[in-house]
Amino acid sequence: MTEKPRLSARIAAIAESATLKVDAKAKALQAEGRPVISYAAGEPDFATPEYIVEAALAATRDPRNYRYTPAAGLPELREAVAAKTLRDSGLEVGAGQVVVTNGGKQAVYQAFQVLLDEGDEVLVPTPYWTTYPEAIKLAGGRQVDVFAGADQGYLVTIEQLEAARTDRTKVLLFVSPSNPTGAVYAPEQVKAIGEWALEHGIWVVSDEIYQNLTYADDEDGVPPRAVSIVEAVPELANQAILVNGVAKTYAMTGWRLGWMVGPNDVIRGAANLQSHLSSNVSNISQRAAIAALTGPQDAVEEMRRAFDRRRRTIVAELSKIEGVTVPVPQGAFYVYPDVSGLLGREWGGATPATSLELADLMLEQAEVAAVPGEAFGPSGYLRLSYALGDGPLLEGIQRLQRLFG
Ligand SMILES: Cc1ncc(COP(=O)(O)O)c(C=O)c1O
Repeated sequence: MTEKPRLSARIAAIAESATLKVDAKAKALQAEGRPVISYAAGEPDFATPEYIVEAALAATRDPRNYRYTPAAGLPELREAVAAKTLRDSGLEVGAGQVVVTNGGKQAVYQAFQVLLDEGDEVLVPTPYWTTYPEAIKLAGGRQVDVFAGADQGYLVTIEQLEAARTDRTKVLLFVSPSNPTGAVYAPEQVKAIGEWALEHGIWVVSDEIYQNLTYADDEDGVPPRAVSIVEAVPELANQAILVNGVAKTYAMTGWRLGWMVGPNDVIRGAANLQSHLSSNVSNISQRAAIAALTGPQDAVEEMRRAFDRRRRTIVAELSKIEGVTVPVPQGAFYVYPDVSGLLGREWGGATPATSLELADLMLEQAEVAAVPGEAFGPSGYLRLSYALGDGPLLEGIQRLQRLFG
């Protein structure tokens, strides 16, 4: 009798999250007592603002929150998300067009589950966030990479999208500000891409989780708006899903609260799926999210300013290393230097040929952790998160300056 594989082919094909892997390795070395400075984490280092924590504490004492609630989310939160969508994405939606999810990650997963049939193609601007390929694959979709390197500021053009389009193209993944590059599309670029998608009947899954974290060129300037694709092209609303959440803006990664917004049929489908998958998100987290979205936003601005300060430091210091090209990120909290100029050269007895090997060398020899470009697409890049304290942030880059000096 031929033995059956223990795992399904579908699950066996899933790659471990490379970003979590690097972070785990850095944490293991730290636990051994090594002074590792890690730029690997994808989360703010701040505490969740106090008024949000207070709302959650009150929620734990309220028996209304002890039971199952509607799978798609508490009505008050869905209202608050609809108001936020109008405020920040310029799209008027009803509360019925919102599904509250366990983080933006579940919203990404559900968006592809709802839209894709076997073999449908998804255009993915590359470098891309590590979860997209797996979510697309699990939905039976086929990912088509559209690569934009440092020389074009990591922004794809209409010409590139058009060259990648086929009869099977169903969805464009759009993310601005981007993880891993921090790139933000200008309003006119968003409009052009939205019009192109509309013209060809292509759905857009727009990941807006970093939309509140953008930075001006001048320290005291007004930060640019990351204009939503449905604000730039309102007619696209009937073929667009917006993905968002409180994790990055409110330093709430551990609370697991995100959402998706879309046309009624899509949202009904996603809510049905979620009703069999995970049901409602923890009511405590939902109450906390209501406070986050409807409360004072001063803490958000304070965190944004801190990220901006660190962004300036890391860009300036990395740029001093010969062989490293650093496009200036305008959003999120990542910098994505092109490090191909460091490859194939000898550093401390080793000659890294890829960014994966370079990242290993940095960890071994300088005790600095960063995620190699291979996690997000082609080799030759590193992702460094600047969501860490000013002191370690500077020290880690100084270690790299010495290693590559
Ligand atoms: C681009 C992007 N989208 C979505 C998410 C999902 O975040 P969460 O599931 O924590 O809400 C992340 C988190 O790293 C992200 O970087």
